[in-house]
Amino acid sequence: MIGVIGAMKVEIEGLKAMLADPVTETISGIDFTSGRLGKVPVVLAVCGVGKVFAALCAQTMILRYQVSALINTGVAGTLCRELGIGDVAVSSDVVQHDMDTATLGDNVGMISGLNLVHLPADPALVRLAEAAVRSKGIRCLVGTIATGDQFLCDAGRKQWIHNTFHAIAGEMEGGSIGQVCYVNRVPFVILRAISDDADGHAPENFAAFVEQTARTSVEMTAALVKGMSDEQGMGEIASED
Ligand code: ADE
Repeated sequence: MIGVIGAMKVEIEGLKAMLADPVTETISGIDFTSGRLGKVPVVLAVCGVGKVFAALCAQTMILRYQVSALINTGVAGTLCRELGIGDVAVSSDVVQHDMDTATLGDNVGMISGLNLVHLPADPALVRLAEAAVRSKGIRCLVGTIATGDQFLCDAGRKQWIHNTFHAIAGEMEGGSIGQVCYVNRVPFVILRAISDDADGHAPENFAAFVEQTARTSVEMTAALVKGMSDEQGMGEIASED
């Protein structure tokens, strides 16, 4: 079974509408809806905004649904010139830009206990996600996605995150889903359509484009799940039972 997590309803409801035989159960206040997307068993959840809800949701999907892969879909702010509103960022890896024990001598972003800053996404999922996006004629960039419990809307902070982590997009859940997947050895990928400039215009951009770009992300995620079921060698991850 494949798990798909979005922070907001608009990032998941389109996928829910495509689900055959949906069954919903609520755990810790989050609705988990399982069913089939095409031939593939999936479980979908709207986790809520931020790292704690996202981690709680990812761990629940792993323990309760034994997901063999996790996809985080949704929207993000751009952190680089190459990505504009409506384009899609796919994670090569994730970082948590608000993790900071630098005053103790660590590199900024280092996750204590793991001693890593960048947590790698699954290379096969990254390749399939990129192919799914490009097949729809949408611009796609693969790179570091930066996560923190902040809505990014400041030019200085944006530049700092880009310079410090070489990040291409910023959002509020992917890094914690990546951390949960890393410690549980579950493959993951983050796929995010760009809704705003993560800069002074971010609040207006977000309000204007969140619905439309979230739908792009839903469409790309459906294409990715289909790509996973078609792919030789992905049998164990996207198996039909
Ligand atoms: N998700 C979408 N846009 C974002 C931004 N600017 N900062 C954090 N998360 C986001």
